[in-house]
Amino acid sequence: EGLAEGGRASVAGMGDGAARKSQEVLLVCKDEFVESNTYHAQGGVATAIFDDDSPALHAADTMAAGHGLCDHTAVDILTDEGARRVRELIGDGWHVDRDGEGHVLRGLEAAHCRSRVVHAGGDATGKVLELDVSAMVKANPNITVLEHAFLNDILVHDGHVAGVRLAVRDAQGGVETRIVDADRVVLATGGAGRLYPYTTNPAVATGDGLAAAIRAGAQVADLEFYQFHPTAMAVGEHFLVSEAVRGEGAVLLDEHGHRFMTDIDPKAELAPRDVVARANFRTMQAQGGKPIMLDVSPMAKENPDLADFLRHRFPTIDAYTRALGFDWSKEPIPVAPAAHYWMGGIRTDLFGRASIPGLYAAGECARTGVQGANRLASNSLLEGMVYGYRAGLAAANDADDAAWQPQDFDNSAIKGMPVCQRPMTLHMPTETTQTQVWNRTRIEDAMWKHVGVIRDGDTLLQGVSVLGEALATANHAEAAESVENGTQTADYAHQVAMWENRNLLTVGYVAAVAAGNRCESRGAHTRQDYPTINPTIAHSIAYQMA
Ligand code: SIN
Repeated sequence: EGLAEGGRASVAGMGDGAARKSQEVLLVCKDEFVESNTYHAQGGVATAIFDDDSPALHAADTMAAGHGLCDHTAVDILTDEGARRVRELIGDGWHVDRDGEGHVLRGLEAAHCRSRVVHAGGDATGKVLELDVSAMVKANPNITVLEHAFLNDILVHDGHVAGVRLAVRDAQGGVETRIVDADRVVLATGGAGRLYPYTTNPAVATGDGLAAAIRAGAQVADLEFYQFHPTAMAVGEHFLVSEAVRGEGAVLLDEHGHRFMTDIDPKAELAPRDVVARANFRTMQAQGGKPIMLDVSPMAKENPDLADFLRHRFPTIDAYTRALGFDWSKEPIPVAPAAHYWMGGIRTDLFGRASIPGLYAAGECARTGVQGANRLASNSLLEGMVYGYRAGLAAANDADDAAWQPQDFDNSAIKGMPVCQRPMTLHMPTETTQTQVWNRTRIEDAMWKHVGVIRDGDTLLQGVSVLGEALATANHAEAAESVENGTQTADYAHQVAMWENRNLLTVGYVAAVAAGNRCESRGAHTRQDYPTINPTIAHSIAYQMA
């Protein structure tokens, strides 16, 4: 029996892999089936399926954006198999946008040398993809979907995954603990944007799978690389304003109406995401925190009825901005950087295998080697499709092979890169003088202050200290609670909020340690005290001793 948590696009591979082999798959979701980062993805899926493009060109753009930390082999697989997966999914019924003659439409996004971003529902690509894939999953009789079930822990016996401990919401809204035996567990639990006060991520993005993997002793890699999206709405809920908007010609202005990106990078607003996010952040700092203005008026040259064009090309953003009282066809809208995507994650090989036999990871919670120090726009859904599929196939096939060899886990051959650093043993803090468990606002504020867009050694060190103490307090409280709650009278929603905070503290603490150890600036990791790249520093790998 295999088990996956989360309703992500990557389950497509599991459907084809594990479930096709008549093995039972239990798909566990802490909320409703479709709620995930995937559901909210706007821009699209980057893929080399058009005549003027090739997987090699797509791979070159991915490698360049990743600032030397991408794994060549992993990237080649991403772009090559990615084109096949996208064609297959379209063939299987994924409703991508097409022109009047039925040709698949495509958009341009930052740091891509070709227009290659396939989209659906205008700017609702993730939603359409996930609803279409969910229908395929639900039609598969070997997959059972369990909603409102929280992953407490991954169980490991004799060095092999043995199952999971879940907290399932019962009919009264209480908690029922359930142990599920499973010799393979696939984590597809997404990211942890909720670490920060400003994020494009939905409420479910709290790093639960990553935290459980850390507690189980799995290796994690490159957690210092967290991507901030340059343009979230600066008012309301920091709703994402897709990079595709800049791809269509929108420009960024400072408080004086100056188009500052032309001073910073020859690609201006279409420079890699880390460059634009940093520029927006620094410009906001220089103007006393006032937001950047995103001006879509240059699109009017090719689209004289701008309001009509925006309504059709970006229906979700159009509706959201109008609900906030802006008419973006007539005036620039205020935007600011917000936490968006974690490049680092559970270290996997090219088939999603983590370092603990029987554990797999796919999608944002995994570090497959394709995102490097800065993910190229619209490569994340593609990664879910390609490596989710591979993880599903491996989970199915590894089961047939009774002699699973731990040495099959090998992701260290990184061409053109120094060999990976030796894994670092994590010493998770246990000492604390605090009695008060931190609330979410405190966690978010600490992360923004200590492990934010621009970092330095002193603030990171303070971050390690305060987050470590808060984590130790949360762990003590959890240990006390789990004894007291033997009767399972707790309220599911209340418990989930506590567990999510503990998970955020776990992953936030490890991110702070990793960021403190990386004494350079590269991609999304910017250190004021080490402003340049140090080409001798490779991946950071860490794990907690059992
Ligand atoms: C966007 O639409 O700007 C987000 C796409 C991505 O994160 O790749």
